Amino acid sequence: MEYQFSERIKTIKASAIREIFKLTADPAVISFAAGNPSPDAFPVEAVRQITADILKNEPVEALQYNITEGYLPLRNYVKETLLPAIGSFNPERDDAIIVTGGQQGIDLTCKVLCNEGDTVLCENPSFVGALNAIKAYNTNLVGIDLDGDGVNLEQLEKALKTEKNVKIFYTIPTFQNPSGITATLEKRKAVYELCKKYGVLILEDNPYGALRFEGEDVPTIKSLDTDGIVIYAGSFSKVLSPGIRVGFLSLPKEICAKVVVAKQVNDVHTNILAQMIAYNFVTKYDFDAHLERLRALYRRKCAFMLEQMDKYFDPRVTFTRPQGGLFLWATLPEDVDMMQFTRDAVAKKVAVVPGSAFLPHEETMISHSFRLNFSMPSEEQIETGIKILGEMTHAL
Ligand SMILES: Cc1ncc(COP(=O)(O)O)c(C=O)c1O
Repeated sequence: MEYQFSERIKTIKASAIREIFKLTADPAVISFAAGNPSPDAFPVEAVRQITADILKNEPVEALQYNITEGYLPLRNYVKETLLPAIGSFNPERDDAIIVTGGQQGIDLTCKVLCNEGDTVLCENPSFVGALNAIKAYNTNLVGIDLDGDGVNLEQLEKALKTEKNVKIFYTIPTFQNPSGITATLEKRKAVYELCKKYGVLILEDNPYGALRFEGEDVPTIKSLDTDGIVIYAGSFSKVLSPGIRVGFLSLPKEICAKVVVAKQVNDVHTNILAQMIAYNFVTKYDFDAHLERLRALYRRKCAFMLEQMDKYFDPRVTFTRPQGGLFLWATLPEDVDMMQFTRDAVAKKVAVVPGSAFLPHEETMISHSFRLNFSMPSEEQIETGIKILGEMTHAL
């Protein structure tokens, strides 16, 4: 049988990151390629206790079907506590829905808003999971270069003006994946005004915002939203556990109603036991203290990786100095073949993700950068791995 696949799925290629993960299965490989929280970041004992209590005291609620919008206590916590704390919920205008990770939030947003051929703008580089979700709707995906303080405004305006049927600008303004860059407040305001001027919705993806280990918080774009043009995606993946798959959207009520219908046909609702675990953890345990512990852990690891890079990397290689999140982004001189560099690194048992994996169109664009993750490796691995990469940079 020759299987005939949809045009939709043909547009999605196997993730380069997953290919690299295959290589990192070798325990001798030091991996800076992951996107995972540190194994030390999980509140294992609390989750064990919470799960046992739920199954003892509320087994039927945990095991029964529930409503698509989400487990009510968690949804209320998101609407009344978590989002208002960052100015990202307007009760007059917005609603919130619990989704199966931010990934599903991005997918459902595109599903309800984009027709085939519509344009979606994104940062260049950007989170590959979102890029694949957007491409799967056969959209015209257009990348806008990132500057050190956020997206390039001239390019953004040009694309808003000239591309056909621009529906969404997808942005990760805080501790961006893969670059670690945080957009300034001025940039956020300018992005908001431009999208408003051209009648385009903003999808603000913020899974790392609570992981700031340096500097001052910058207001979310959602908190600037006076016109109902921002859809905000949040997640418990990086602050509690990615395996439980619990995220949320804050968005204008009319759009939320459509997302509810789309989610109903997708997975009916997000796993209720997982939602109950998240709710109990954030309300009955000291969530702030947990976040502070994560920030301290990542502050230390990021500073250590930067220290080693300062020490070992050739100064012709530049890199970002993130104030939070899980990643930093190194850029090789333009005459260097970045793909060959990452292959050579794997041969020397160090894995990084080639920047090309984060390009909106890998086939036609070039990247000189690679992504490094500091949350997963131990300090010993960071020191050894960065030294190896550093020696390679001097040999370029
Ligand atoms: C920028 C960004 N958005 C969304 C996600 C998806 O996260 P989840 O679906 O686990 O909430 C990730 C995961 O790495 C990410 O980096």
